[in-house]
Parts: sequence; structure tokens; C-alpha cells
Amino acid sequence: MRLFTPQTLIFVLLDVGAAAEISTAQRRSIVRSFNPHRNASSATTPLQVGNGNFAFGADVTGLQTFSNFAVESSWAWHNFSLPTTTGQTSPSDFTGLDWWTHDRLVNYDMPNPAEEDISNWLIENPQRLSIANIGLHFPGQNVTENDFLYKSQELDIWEGTIQSSFDYNGSKVSVQVWCHPADPVVGIQIKSDLLISGDMGVFFDFPISDTIKFDAPYVGVWNDTTNSTVRMQSTPEMASFEHLLDSDINRLGVKWNAEGSVSGPLAGTNRFILTPTGSNTLQLVADFQPASSTHYNFPAFESIGVASREWWENYWTSGGFIDLSATDNVNATELQRRIILSQYLVAVNEASYNPPQESGLVNNGWYGKFHLEMFLWHSLQFARWGHYDLLARSAPGTYQRFLQSSIDRATAQGYEGARWGKMTDPTGRSAPGEINALLIWQQPHVMHFAEYVYRAFPNQDTLQEWDEVVTATADFMASYAWWNETTKLYDLGPPMYPVSENTSPNSTINPTFELAYWRFGLDVAIQWKERQHVSVPEKWMTVRDNLAPLPIIDDAYAVYEGIPDMWKANSTTVQDHPAMIGIYGLLPPPSTGAPLNLTTMRHTAELIKELWDLGDSYGWDFSMLAMNSLRLGDLDQAIAYLLDPYYVFDDAGYAEGGVRVPTPYMPDAGGLLLATAMMAGGWDGDEGPHFPEDWNVTVEGFSPSL
Ligand SMILES: *[C@@H]1O[C@H](CO)[C@@H](O)[C@H](O)[C@H]1NC(C)=O
Ligand SMILES: *[C@@H]1O[C@H](CO)[C@@H](O)[C@H](O)[C@H]1NC(C)=O
Ligand SMILES: *[C@@H]1O[C@H](CO)[C@@H](O)[C@H](O)[C@H]1NC(C)=O
Ligand SMILES: *[C@@H]1O[C@H](CO)[C@@H](O)[C@H](O)[C@H]1NC(C)=O
Ligand SMILES: *[C@@H]1O[C@H](CO)[C@@H](O)[C@H](O)[C@H]1NC(C)=O
Ligand SMILES: *[C@@H]1O[C@H](CO)[C@@H](O)[C@H](O)[C@H]1NC(C)=O
Ligand SMILES: *[C@@H]1O[C@H](CO)[C@@H](O)[C@H](O)[C@H]1NC(C)=O
Ligand SMILES: *[C@@H]1O[C@H](CO)[C@@H](O)[C@H](O)[C@H]1NC(C)=O
Ligand SMILES: *[C@@H]1O[C@H](CO)[C@@H](O)[C@H](O)[C@H]1NC(C)=O
Ligand SMILES: *[C@@H]1O[C@H](CO)[C@@H](O)[C@H](O)[C@H]1NC(C)=O
Ligand SMILES: *[C@@H]1O[C@H](CO)[C@@H](O)[C@H](O)[C@H]1NC(C)=O
Ligand SMILES: *[C@@H]1O[C@H](CO)[C@@H](O)[C@H](O)[C@H]1NC(C)=O
Repeated sequence: MRLFTPQTLIFVLLDVGAAAEISTAQRRSIVRSFNPHRNASSATTPLQVGNGNFAFGADVTGLQTFSNFAVESSWAWHNFSLPTTTGQTSPSDFTGLDWWTHDRLVNYDMPNPAEEDISNWLIENPQRLSIANIGLHFPGQNVTENDFLYKSQELDIWEGTIQSSFDYNGSKVSVQVWCHPADPVVGIQIKSDLLISGDMGVFFDFPISDTIKFDAPYVGVWNDTTNSTVRMQSTPEMASFEHLLDSDINRLGVKWNAEGSVSGPLAGTNRFILTPTGSNTLQLVADFQPASSTHYNFPAFESIGVASREWWENYWTSGGFIDLSATDNVNATELQRRIILSQYLVAVNEASYNPPQESGLVNNGWYGKFHLEMFLWHSLQFARWGHYDLLARSAPGTYQRFLQSSIDRATAQGYEGARWGKMTDPTGRSAPGEINALLIWQQPHVMHFAEYVYRAFPNQDTLQEWDEVVTATADFMASYAWWNETTKLYDLGPPMYPVSENTSPNSTINPTFELAYWRFGLDVAIQWKERQHVSVPEKWMTVRDNLAPLPIIDDAYAVYEGIPDMWKANSTTVQDHPAMIGIYGLLPPPSTGAPLNLTTMRHTAELIKELWDLGDSYGWDFSMLAMNSLRLGDLDQAIAYLLDPYYVFDDAGYAEGGVRVPTPYMPDAGGLLLATAMMAGGWDGDEGPHFPEDWNVTVEGFSPSL
């Protein structure tokens, strides 16, 4: 037997489980078959090109002619000026609240009624900014989308380009847009005789910010210029715009192929007009840059297309693939559509150096900030689908960047290690909030990410790269657990909020999911030290081995220990996230301590199906339920959850927000990709794949889930 043929070596390195069976041509044909087509702008979602740190959302014209869809990035944010209220003029004037935490007072970043203005400022600032819009301009005419005939638009997700066309006043207009895979640069090609006659030009517009928590479908205010100035400089070949909004600056540089002149702004707006001359083909390259930038980068239009094509083809041909195309079944086709479109959208919206926000780069939720407890739902899928390079953009880097401020947070509260925040801005500051301050399930995500990376790259470099943040997290987790003299066990909380954010924090103790996750996290941290042959902190083992048992009520796992009215129809205990299912859905069964009671697990799943108010939950709950159903061997139920009428993806693949948040809600895409990766790759001890027997499925490139 030859152990290390060149081929097996490559497969080990790439973490590919099986020989290549799905050809590039087959992948291309499947991917392209789900290209979104539109003949009108959507009222809720754009079509996008983008690269994870920057995205350009287009209406039916391929630009933002009629709809102010966002052009967002990882770096463009805005602060309103600080309040002038006496004693509340600086972030350092915010003092939060002291709450009893067992036998002592702990200070939390919660809004203090005596500090309302600075508390609100800290919640609402900074907001993520939509940088600028680019659209078609028809001088002297009042044109609406209805004036265009034969509108037709296709997003080619295989290459990352949007091709749009329509007729206006008897002339054909076509627009093609590409985004550079590494830079905040778009290439736009517009073809029309209207460019020669002077009946059509291009506008550039700049919004002001607002403090709307869920700013959707458009971000910012486009008909007001208060506190905002745009300085423009132009030559016949290019223009540079410097947008000053309060004290923040963003830049847009535009270069074009023909001659042209820029005028503006139009009265009462930040809108400038480019009037090109002499050609029916205009190629524009637009570079969106932060204040700190000193120069623009204008690659040729064609080279942006070449770079985009190359990047996307590499994305689609590397990593896992599930081919359901030989199955003649509506559910298989819909699942395939959701998988393919979600893969496109996570690469455009989530592959950032920061954790992604819930609405990606489409619009703003929670002011555009990101939530560290949702980081896993957004980004773990990159690992499960073999795109470790995209996960590596944000992890462990985010944790390393936020380490010192998280150590400071823990220290100020009297804990060891690093306590990660929740609703976070790029500086690592967690916004004031009762839930923000008391949620804890974001902590062990560090170990969860680390363990998947280690499985793919089981070497010293991985161990060293993650060691500092794993250690600081475990130190906090061990010191947060509270020794209960009566029970002789370690408790979690009170006060705390569990995954379902609807309990009373001062009575929430020992929630099922968090207890299981504390064990999981400490197990990984302990193994991390053992793999490095260094000593394991005693406290980690003591806490892990003496954690309170998972709470059970009516033979099913409860939200938390002793919660009243558990498993009662219409009670708040059966609303919000059914996180107890995550102890087998999101987490593997425990590798230490008492084994999971599968009878209880199965009964819990039955009660959730019978009683839970899933119409009021969030979409990733369905993927968590589906993964639990898979492990319990109920494949039909897993697929039913993934196709639940409350778990919906629109024509372009954006997961609908449901009753609680606007569309899109990107963790649903991440959840779907986790669940389908588990169908394809199985899990430790049962490697699958798990699809209905009468489906004809080929999978490639998956490894088992934990
Ligand atoms: C536009 O698209 C919708 C939905 O796909 C379709 O029903 C309709 O026939 C299309 N209209 C035209 C004019 O192509
Ligand atoms: C907003 O203000 C905060 C606090 O002063 C600061 O840390 C951050 O860098 C500012 N961000 C922007 C985009 O101005
Ligand atoms: C929890 O207890 C603190 C005192 O430690 C109190 O200030 C706070 O109002 C309580 N919160 C709730 C939601 O009851
Ligand atoms: C432009 O046309 C739309 C729709 O026909 C109309 O509602 C709007 O008032 C017009 N605006 C101007 C400035 O003429
Ligand atoms: C439409 O095109 C005709 C020439 O074909 C021109 O005379 C007219 O001004 C155009 N109308 C608009 C609204 O552009
Ligand atoms: C801007 O548009 C909004 C929504 O249409 C409107 O409520 C507001 O009055 C407008 N503001 C200005 C300054 O025109
Ligand atoms: C403009 O700035 C002033 C002073 O900072 C502020 O009070 C006001 O809210 C700002 N207005 C807008 C529309 O941003
Ligand atoms: C599955 O699909 C492949 C590709 O279309 C086909 O060659 C094969 O015969 C199918 N297998 C079954 C069992 O239908
Ligand atoms: C100790 O544990 C028991 C049982 O979980 C609980 O009822 C009690 O509140 C805990 N003690 C303290 C002081 O939190
Ligand atoms: C729960 O609420 C539904 C709808 O409001 C109602 O039909 C049902 O009777 C309620 N069930 C119980 C047990 O209260
Ligand atoms: C598992 O839970 C069931 C009840 O749900 C119980 O009857 C059984 O004894 C438990 N098994 C173990 C090993 O604890
Ligand atoms: C599709 O899935 C739904 C929900 O699980 C199920 O009711 C239906 O029978 C399935 N349809 C097919 C054709 O398999």
C-alpha cells in the first residue's frame, strides 16, 4: 500500500474527502442555471456584485438609477457629533449600571437613565455608511422605471457580473457591471446611442446618515445635504469626489474612457452629472476609498472583468459541491437553488475582515454593527464548504484585534481572561444594552472556529495562531462560572441572557445550551493545551467537570433550570430561539461528562415541533433544528425544516427576515450552508452523505461535522 501518493497528499492538504467527480463544466452549468433574472427592480433587495469587504447593490438598470440600494463596505462608517449635554459629552462619560451578580456588584455597559444622551449616542454611532450611488441621468426629463421597455437583467453568479438592458424612447441601453475581487472598485460599461445625442449621462450622489436602527431597503438619506459637502475636481477623463459628512470623509474617484465633463451639484442635492461626449460606449471605473487613502486605483474596465471571472471560477471550482441536478424533485431543486445563491451571497456580503452584519452589505440592521454571537452563523460555513481562506479574513484576526478591550472588559468586571462583546463596531466596542451586556454564548465560538480550522490544518501553526485567544476565552469562561456552595456545582448566571433573549435575566440560571457550550469550549481549550504538550490550567478542568447538569423539565431539555411554564402552549418559554436543540444540532454530543440522553433529545424535538412558535423565530433556527433532525436520523424532518414556509429565500436568494427583521437576514444563508454541508459530509461517526434514497446526489469536497 502506498500511503502518500501525490494525490492523497493533495487531498489531505485541501481537506477534500473524495476524488473529483463533479467537473468544472458540470459545476458551471448548475451554478449558472440559478442566475437571477429580473425585469423590474425589487422593492426589497438589489442584485449585487462585491467581494466580501465591499458590495454594490443595483436596481434593474444595473446601477442605482431609481433605487438607492447600498454601496457598503467594511470600512465606511460615520459618527454624528457627540452630545453637548453637561456631563455626557464623551464616550468616557458613560458609566453603565451596576447589577448584583451573586455576592457582588458588577458594572455592565447598560443604558443608564441618567446618561440617556451618551448611551443613545454609543448605541447609534458609528453607523455603517452607504458611500455613494451611481445611476443614469436623463437631462431635463422626469424618467421613471415604467418609461423603460423590454427591461431585462441577469446576474451571472459564475463570473460575478450584472448585465442589464432596456429601451428608452426607442433607443437601446445596456449596462454591464463588475466588481474587483480585491478592491472597492467597480467597472461599468454603458452602451447606447443616447450617450451620443446627449440625452443620457451618469450621476454620482452622496447620502447623509441617519440613526434608524433597521435602515432598509435603503441606507441613509438621499434628499438632504445637511452637514454634508462634496468637493469635486475633474478633468475630461476623471473626477474625484471628497464627501465630508460631519467630521467623516469618504472618497470616490471615477475615470472614464471617452471625453466628458462633470457638473453639479444639482440644487439642494449632493448629485453630480457626468456628460460624456462622442461615443456610444462609456466605460467607467469607480474607486470608493476611505479618508486615509491617498490615491485612486483605476484598473482598465476589461481587467476588472478578467480578475472577477478568475476569482469566481476559482471560488466555484474549489471547495465543496453538492450536485442535486440529476434528481427530478421540486424540493431537491429548491434546495440546490438556495445552496448556490447562498454561496454567491456569502462571498459577496460576508467574506470581510470584520464579522458580517446581519444584513450583509445590503442594508443596515442595528446601525450596521455586527454581533459576535452571530459571527458563527455567518462564517463557520466557509470552513464547512472548504473556503478557509475566506474565514481567515476575519478569524482569528477579529478576536486578536478585540483581545485587549475584551480583557479590559473582563478585568473591570472582576473576571479573568477576555469577555467578548456583542453588538460591536470596528473598534471592538460593544454597544450599551441589557441583552448586549448579559449574553454569553458568543464566548465559546472562539473554540468552535478554532477546532474546525485545526481539523483542516492540524499543525503547530494553527495551535499557535489561535492559542492566545482560546486561552483568554477559556480563562474568562472558567472564572465566569460560579461555585454554588449548596449544590457543589458551577452555575452559569444569574444575571444573564440565554440564546433566546426573552427570559428574565436575574432569574436565568443554567440554560441548557450555554451549559453544553461551556463544556464544549473548555473541552476544546483543554485539548488545545494537550496538543501543545503544555500544562492545562487546573481551573478549566475543575469547572468543566463540575458544571451543573443540563436542566430537564417534563422529560425535555428546558430553556434554563427551573423556568416556570416550560412546554406550555403559547407561553414565552416556547418562543424565540429553541436553543436547547442546538446541543445536538449545532454542537456535537459531549466528549466528557454524562452522555447526552437521546431519549430526552428526541422528546425535546417532538415538543418543539408541537409547541414552538416558529413563525416568531429567526431563520437559522430552522437549520439548527434540521441539523438535530439529521443526527436523530429523521431526514424527512430535516428537509422539511430547511423548506419550512417561514424559512424563505427570495428570487435572488436573499433570506427573508420574517416578522422580526428586514430582508435579507444573512445568518439564514450561513445556517442553510451549515446544514447542507452536514447532509453532504455527515458528522464524526456517521459520515453520510444523508439525502433521501430516491434522490440522485453527488457530493464532493466535504469533511464530517464535529
Ligand atoms: C417579468 O418577470 C416576471 C417574474 O419572473 C414574469 O412573470 C413576467 O412575465 C416577466 N415580464 C416580462 C415582460 O418579461
Ligand atoms: C466614532 O467615534 C468613536 C468614539 O469616539 C471612535 O472610536 C470611532 O473611531 C469613530 N468612528 C468614525 C467612523 O468616525
Ligand atoms: C436585576 O437586578 C438589578 C439589581 O442587581 C436591578 O437593578 C435590575 O432592575 C434587575 N433587572 C430586572 C430585569 O429585573
Ligand atoms: C415625475 O413623474 C412622476 C410619475 O409620473 C410624478 O409622480 C412626479 O410628480 C414627477 N415629478 C416631477 C418633478 O415632475
Ligand atoms: C425621443 O427621441 C426623439 C427622436 O427620436 C426626440 O426628438 C425626443 O426629444 C426624445 N424624447 C425624449 C423625452 O428624450
Ligand atoms: C426626503 O424624503 C422623505 C421621504 O420621502 C421625506 O419624508 C422628507 O421630507 C424629504 N426631505 C427633504 C429635505 O426633502
Ligand atoms: C447637523 O449637525 C448638527 C450639529 O452637530 C446636529 O445637531 C444635526 O442633527 C445634524 N443634522 C443632520 C440632518 O445630520
Ligand atoms: C444519476 O444521475 C447520473 C447523471 O445524470 C446518471 O448517469 C445516473 O444513471 C443516475 N443514477 C440513477 C440511479 O438514476
Ligand atoms: C445554588 O443552586 C441552586 C440550585 O440550582 C439554586 O436554586 C440557588 O439559587 C443557587 N444559589 C445561589 C446563591 O445562586
Ligand atoms: C394558543 O394561541 C392560539 C392562537 O392565538 C389559540 O388558538 C390556542 O387556543 C392557544 N392555545 C392555548 C393552549 O392557549
Ligand atoms: C434518559 O431520559 C429518560 C426520560 O426522558 C429516562 O427514562 C432515562 O432513564 C434516561 N437515561 C439515562 C441513561 O439517564
Ligand atoms: C417536499 O417537502 C415537503 C416538506 O417536507 C413535503 O411535504 C413534500 O412531500 C416534498 N415533496 C416532494 C416532491 O418530495
